[in-house]
Amino acid sequence: MSKKTFLSRRRFVKTTGVFCASLAGAGALSACASEAAVEPAPEPKTQTDPEPASSPEAAPEPEATPETDSEPTTAGESVLVAYFSYPETTASSDPNNLTEEEENSAVVVDGQIKGNNEFMADIIARETGADTFRILTTRSYPTDHEGLIAQAQDEINAGDRPDLAETIPDLSQYDTVFIGYPIWWAELPPIMHSFLEQADLAGKQIYLFNSHGGSGNAGTKEEIQSILSDATVSDDNFVVSRDSVANSEQDLVDWVHGLGF
Ligand SMILES: Cc1cc2nc3c(=O)[nH]c(=O)nc-3n(C[C@H](O)[C@H](O)[C@H](O)COP(=O)(O)O)c2cc1C
Repeated sequence: MSKKTFLSRRRFVKTTGVFCASLAGAGALSACASEAAVEPAPEPKTQTDPEPASSPEAAPEPEATPETDSEPTTAGESVLVAYFSYPETTASSDPNNLTEEEENSAVVVDGQIKGNNEFMADIIARETGADTFRILTTRSYPTDHEGLIAQAQDEINAGDRPDLAETIPDLSQYDTVFIGYPIWWAELPPIMHSFLEQADLAGKQIYLFNSHGGSGNAGTKEEIQSILSDATVSDDNFVVSRDSVANSEQDLVDWVHGLGF
């Protein structure tokens, strides 16, 4: 699947093998990283509106909410795949005719639209026999791309912790947890902080997977290890450009099998 440039407000410029992301305007964020390398620490963020959910742009838009799939399955024994994925599609998106922005964040499988990390989570769960937990927030996001990234920026700048929409399952039954997420503003999406701070992952073996538009893992491995100080976060993680997600299945399967599953 062809996935093109990122956002109209953001430019990813390839320079000597390094992708750089920059936000036009206030210069609030810039980030550069090699495809799979650890991201340098992002520049300090400017505090902005602390509660974007109350703005007209953030008015509830039910069709913007990704399909709910938060009930853990029962197939797995001791592995959980927990992931956040926010494809920029709506209930009316046509899987045969996605816009560029929709295509950037989604993969179509047998006519079904999946977010990039949802796509990867499903493959990992299939290969490991894991249960899955989709991390969802009660918060509504704008359906338009510009509104979404603006709200995400506000949440990140404010250190926001959106509410989880679903109760985290009993994690005592799992030894290994795969955690997946997109990169937002060269950071973890705020809902990931909510999850990581509430989940009791002490003693677990953690493997990370993420997709991005050019920022690599943006230092999120180190950040997650810092939050999950009592867990073991592997250095062997799956980091993939959104441009390659649709063609990543074999690499993903090889990675999972290489971990011993
Ligand atoms: C609000 C927002 C901010 C983003 N910021 C970045 C970024 O800073 N760097 C980057 O490489 N990609 C960024 N992206 C692109 C996503 O990481 C990428 O599209 C990802 O594959 C989406 O995965 P998902 O469909 O599972 O949500 C951003 C996307 C959104 C929606």
